[in-house]
Amino acid sequence: MTVSQGEKLVVVGAGQMGAGIAQVALQAGLQVTLVDVSTELLGKAAERIAAGLQKLVDKGKLDEAKRKILIDRLRTANSASQAKEIDFAIEAVTENEELKKRVFKELDGVVRAGGVMATNTSSIPITRIGAATRRPEAVIGMHFMNPVPVMSLVEIIRGAATSDGTFAATQSLAERMGKTTVVSRDFPGFIVNRILVPMLNEACFALMEGLGTVQDIDTAMKLGTNQPMGPLQLADFIGLDTVLYIADVLYKGLGDSKYRACPLLRQYVDAGWLGKKSGRGFYRY
Ligand code: CAA
Repeated sequence: MTVSQGEKLVVVGAGQMGAGIAQVALQAGLQVTLVDVSTELLGKAAERIAAGLQKLVDKGKLDEAKRKILIDRLRTANSASQAKEIDFAIEAVTENEELKKRVFKELDGVVRAGGVMATNTSSIPITRIGAATRRPEAVIGMHFMNPVPVMSLVEIIRGAATSDGTFAATQSLAERMGKTTVVSRDFPGFIVNRILVPMLNEACFALMEGLGTVQDIDTAMKLGTNQPMGPLQLADFIGLDTVLYIADVLYKGLGDSKYRACPLLRQYVDAGWLGKKSGRGFYRY
């Protein structure tokens, strides 16, 4: 298998989202460089990707020889500047505006002219991230859902300056990764989190007010509305700190009290009960 022009992808951030994005990009036949300042995280991400591809082998969706080829195509680096002439970059670092802006300044130097710089942000305005670069026309939002290899949606968000060429290349890459795309305007929470996070937050209010137990609230929503997970379990799965952060972004950005975060959610975050990743949230793990 050879890698032709237009197929060099950099993913910045080797957390759960970055690893998932790198995996689906490898499956789509791209040559992927996964970048993170933490060598330990890079190691964990490589293991996670290998395990994800193994799942596909176990199910007969990928053969073992191809799995080896895909794993060989994965490169890791501590800085994006170690990669050269990049066609497409996807940033998936922590939801911190200053950090993201720093990453985009660096990407500006390594992504080739005519290439695309996408952010997987769930809440920071694309327009603002674009304005931190020398080429805002090449900046776009590409919001994957967790777990990336399993979830079929990618939200695409154009900033005020995003070009038609950047949009077309992004849509085409997402489709090549096997995803269905929707387009959202650059407003707080985009489409998914604008609707999902108020529901999760409302479940926290319901719990705080004693409307039902954790189990009753989750079972009610799972069986009553055919969702794969109840809202409190899903909040644990996403991370309570992330849910709170997005709730605060909606509240601040839309200026409407209906988006105020539930005090119980904030208290759990203060306690360090962040959900599945910390071993405790609404459930114990
Ligand atoms: N690579 C490849 N395949 C994988 C995989 C990986 N890394 N991980 C899991 N899979 C496959 C499994 O093999 C399984 O395949 P089959 O159905 O063919 O057997 C399938 O994916 C489902 O996996 P599991 O059986 O392990 O899990 P499950 O059936 O219990 O479902 C779940 C788990 C997909 C997470 C499901 O509970 C679910 O959909 N939950 C809701 C998730 C959700 O809403 N996510 C969006 C969160 S919001 C967001 O992400 C945006 C934001 O900004 C906060």
